[in-house]
Amino acid sequence: MIIRRPPDIPSSEITPESVYVNRRKFIKAAAAGAAGFALGPSALYGAEQSQEIPPRFARLQSELDEPLNSYGDVTTYNNFYEFGTAKDDPHRNSGDFQPEPWTVSIGGECNKPGEYHLEDLLSGVTLEDRVYRLRCVEAWSMVIPWYGFQLSSLINRVEPTGNARYIRFETVVRPEEMPGQRAPILNWPYVEGLRMDEAMHPLTILATGVYGMDLPNQNGAPLRLVVPWKYGFKGVKSIVRIDFVQDMPLNTWKRQNANEYGFYANVNPNVSHPRWSQARERRLPSLFKNFDTMMFNGYTEQVQSLYAGMDLERWK
Ligand code: MTE
Repeated sequence: MIIRRPPDIPSSEITPESVYVNRRKFIKAAAAGAAGFALGPSALYGAEQSQEIPPRFARLQSELDEPLNSYGDVTTYNNFYEFGTAKDDPHRNSGDFQPEPWTVSIGGECNKPGEYHLEDLLSGVTLEDRVYRLRCVEAWSMVIPWYGFQLSSLINRVEPTGNARYIRFETVVRPEEMPGQRAPILNWPYVEGLRMDEAMHPLTILATGVYGMDLPNQNGAPLRLVVPWKYGFKGVKSIVRIDFVQDMPLNTWKRQNANEYGFYANVNPNVSHPRWSQARERRLPSLFKNFDTMMFNGYTEQVQSLYAGMDLERWK
C-alpha cells in the first residue's frame, strides 16, 4: 500500500488554480460569449454517469494502488441530508442551491475573527489535488480526487488563541434551497468538530473541488471538510461558520445518537458500530463488501501519534 505523505507530493502535481477548468468561472465565460464552451465539464467527463477517468487523474490514481471512483460515482451517490436521506437525493434535489457568493464567519478564540469571503480565503492558499479514500460509517467507500487546501493555512491566518482546543464547523441553513431542512430530519445546522491538532494535521483539507472542478452542490459546494482517516460524517459540507472553542463541540451525529456515533470517528476495523461490523467495506460501485477496512483508513503512519495513549474503543 503506497500512502502519500504531503511532503512527498512533488511540486509538479501542485497545479496552479488557473490551469484548471473551473466550472463556475467557465459557465460565466461561456455566458459572456467566450469561445471554448465545448470544453465544459460535460464534454470533459462525458455524461455524469461516465466511468472514464480523465488522463491527468489516472496519473494521480497510480500513486495509490486502488482505482479512482468515477466522477459519476462521486457525484450521484452522496450523503447530504439537507437535500434528503436517499443516496441520490442530493444529486437530484440540490439544483436550486446557490453556492456563490459565499461568506464564512470565523469566530471564537482567535485574534482575527470576521466575515471572510470565499475568494479572500482562497487567495494566498495553495490549491492542490489530494487523492483520498472516503470511508462512510455505513461501510461503503470511494477513492476521490479532492481539490482543496490545508485547513492549517486558514487556521494560521486567523491566529487562534491559547484557549482554542477544538474547532467547530457549521453548515449553512437555507430551507428554501435545501428541501431536507424543511423537516426535522437532523437538528439543523449540521455541526462537526476536530481537536486542534487534528485540524492542523497536513492531511486535513478544506475541499473546494473534485476532479479539478468546483464542488458540485451535492458534494458540499463551495467549501467542505475532508479528513481522510475519519468516517465520512466528519466531512461537514457547505461550511458557513467556523469557531475556535475550549470544549469539545457536540457534533450532529453524536447529538443524534451518542450510543452509535462519537466525536473522534476514526476509521477502525476493530471497533464495531453497535449494529454492524466495521471490519469490511463495500468499495463503490461494488454491491458487496469487497475490501478489508484499514486502520485509520490507511493513514496510520501519518496520524497514529495524534492518539498515542488513547483508548480507541472508548473514544469512538
Ligand atoms: N454534511 C452535511 N451538512 N450534511 C450531511 O448530511 N453527510 C456526511 C458528510 N457531510 C453530511 C455532511 C456523511 S454521513 C458523509 S459519508 C459525507 O458527507 C459524504 O460526502 P460525499 O457525499 O461528498 O461523498
